[in-house]
Amino acid sequence: MTSTIITAAASGTWKLGDLEVRRIGFGAMRLPQTGPALVPRAVPRDRDQAVAVLRRAVELGVNHIDTAAFYFSPLRSANELIDRALAPYPDDLVITTKVGPGRDLRGHWLPHAGPGELRGQVEENLRQLGRDHLDVVNLRVVGTDSLADRFGALAELREAGLIRHLGLSNVTPAQLAEARAVAPVVCVQNRYGIAVRPDQDAVVRSCGEQGIAFVPFYSIAADGGQYGAEDADAPGIRQVALAHGATPAQVRIAWTLRRGPHVLAIPGTGDPAHLESNVAAGSLRLTAEDLALLDTVHRQAEGG
Ligand SMILES: NC(=O)c1ccc[n+]([C@@H]2O[C@H](COP(=O)([O-])OP(=O)(O)OC[C@H]3O[C@@H](n4cnc5c(N)ncnc54)[C@H](OP(=O)(O)O)[C@@H]3O)[C@@H](O)[C@H]2O)c1
Repeated sequence: MTSTIITAAASGTWKLGDLEVRRIGFGAMRLPQTGPALVPRAVPRDRDQAVAVLRRAVELGVNHIDTAAFYFSPLRSANELIDRALAPYPDDLVITTKVGPGRDLRGHWLPHAGPGELRGQVEENLRQLGRDHLDVVNLRVVGTDSLADRFGALAELREAGLIRHLGLSNVTPAQLAEARAVAPVVCVQNRYGIAVRPDQDAVVRSCGEQGIAFVPFYSIAADGGQYGAEDADAPGIRQVALAHGATPAQVRIAWTLRRGPHVLAIPGTGDPAHLESNVAAGSLRLTAEDLALLDTVHRQAEGG
C-alpha cells in the first residue's frame, strides 16, 4: 500500500466526550530521545526532527496526541516539544496527558502521586503545554488498589475547569467501575495489540459497550515495550503484510482499529517515514481471512 498521501481521516473518528478525534493519533513518548524511553541518561533526540514529526502529524490530519510530563530525556521534554511545534494549537487538536507516575530530575521513577499531589502534576502539564486547561487527563495506576481517592481528586480539578475530560490507564474492569461511580470516564489506555495481552480482549469489548474509548499502547512495540519495536514479527503478521503490500507495523495498527469503532491508535515514532506509514495504516482494510490468521497469532500469546 502507498503511504504518501493517506491522511488520518481514513481511520474515521470517535468522540472523547465532546471532543472529536481521528482514530489514528500519535504517541509522544518516543520524541524526547532515541533508543529506550523512560530511562535515565536517554540519548536526546534532535529537536528539529522531533518538531518536524509533530508538525507533519498534524498536517496529516492527526488531532489526538498522547503525552505525559514524565516523557523526557536529559535535554528534551515531550510536552515542551509539543508546545514548541504546535502552539498556537489548532482548535481541533486534543492533547491527552497522564498523571500518577513521576520521575525526578535525573530521570529515576518516584513513588506514584497520591490524591494531594495530583494537582501539582496537572499544573506541571499545564505549564509545559502552555494551556489553561487539559483536554483529557488519564490517571495512570499500577496494581489493583482502590483509585477512588485519586480519581476523586482529579474529578475536583475537572469541576474547577482545569481538566475537560478524565480517563484511566493500566486499569482493571473493577477499577474502571469504581472510577465511573466518581466521575465520567472517556477513555481507558491499557497495553494491548496482536499477541500483546490477549487477556485484555474482554476489557476492549466492555469499553465499547460502555461507550468508552479503548486506547492501546505498545501495539507496535509489543514485547519490546519501552525499548522499542523488535525486528521479529510473527510469520502470520508478515504474511498478511505481504498480501497487502503493507508493513507489519501497519498490520498491527489496522488490527487494533478492527477491534471496534471505539479503539483509537496512538503509535509512537520519531521517524518521519514511520509516521506517514502509521497514519496510512488507517486505510488498510483487513479481510476476514487476514483477521482469522491474526487471531491465531494473538491467541498463541494467551497465558504467555
Ligand atoms: N499509559 C501508559 O502506561 C503508556 C505506556 C507506554 C506508552 N504510552 C503511550 O503510547 C504511545 C505508543 O507507545 P510506543 O510509542 O511506545 O509504542 P508503539 O507505537 O507501539 O511503538 C513504538 C516503537 O515502534 C517503532 N515504530 C513506530 N512506527 C513504526 C513503523 N511504522 N515501522 C517500524 N517501527 C515503528 C518506534 O521506533 P521509531 O521511532 O524508529 O519509529 C518505536 O520503537 C506512546 O508514545 C505513549 O504516548 C502509554
